[in-house]
Amino acid sequence: MIRAASPSDYPAIRAVISHAFGQTEEANLVEQLRADGDVLVEFVEASDIAVQGHILYSPLAIEGDGYTVNAAALAPVSVLKSFQKSGIGSALIRAGNARCGELGLDAIVVLGHESYYPKFGFSAVLAESLKAPFSGPHFMALELKPGALRSGGRVRYAKAFGV
Ligand SMILES: CC(C)(COP(=O)(O)OP(=O)(O)OC[C@H]1O[C@@H](n2cnc3c(N)ncnc32)[C@H](O)[C@@H]1OP(=O)(O)O)[C@@H](O)C(=O)NCCC(=O)NCCS
Repeated sequence: MIRAASPSDYPAIRAVISHAFGQTEEANLVEQLRADGDVLVEFVEASDIAVQGHILYSPLAIEGDGYTVNAAALAPVSVLKSFQKSGIGSALIRAGNARCGELGLDAIVVLGHESYYPKFGFSAVLAESLKAPFSGPHFMALELKPGALRSGGRVRYAKAFGV
């Protein structure tokens, strides 16, 4: 079942992220984003007794000449190794993206596997108009409102990313 994360999930979320990535950097990022109040959407895939997957979106401003596009950064997403390749990651991304749409956001940006995210509509070509600390095939964007990224702009990540 996918549901919003709550504080009682936080220790389990830390374990899932650290286990999936094989390091603690991404779990630390999540905790800093929470501490800074920079969480837009945070979902878990969980049974009654355990958390198997997690996804988080933080605010991302895309600033142009006289306008700001209100976007989200999708990062990180993780699934416990023994539960991978059973659709949990995809379900979390679909649910999270849909929630961003409900929140009225204009777009979502992700830095990730170039063969994984396009199936959810993310495109590296769409991200080319953005001035960001990242570029190339791993840097992808998805418009929740058609044309939202047409004019491009400078990307500002939440402070915890340190970029
Ligand atoms: C990426 C991740 C969240 C996917 O979760 P999942 O539950 O296994 O994903 P799903 O079951 O929905 O989808 C599995 C599909 O993703 C593909 N996939 C998984 N990891 C991939 C990767 N690193 N690169 C490309 N494709 C990948 C699988 O090959 C599979 O493809 P298929 O459906 O065509 O067979 C999970 O593998 C994970 O936690 N990885 C470690 C952390 C990580 O790298 N997070 C993403 C950072 S961008």
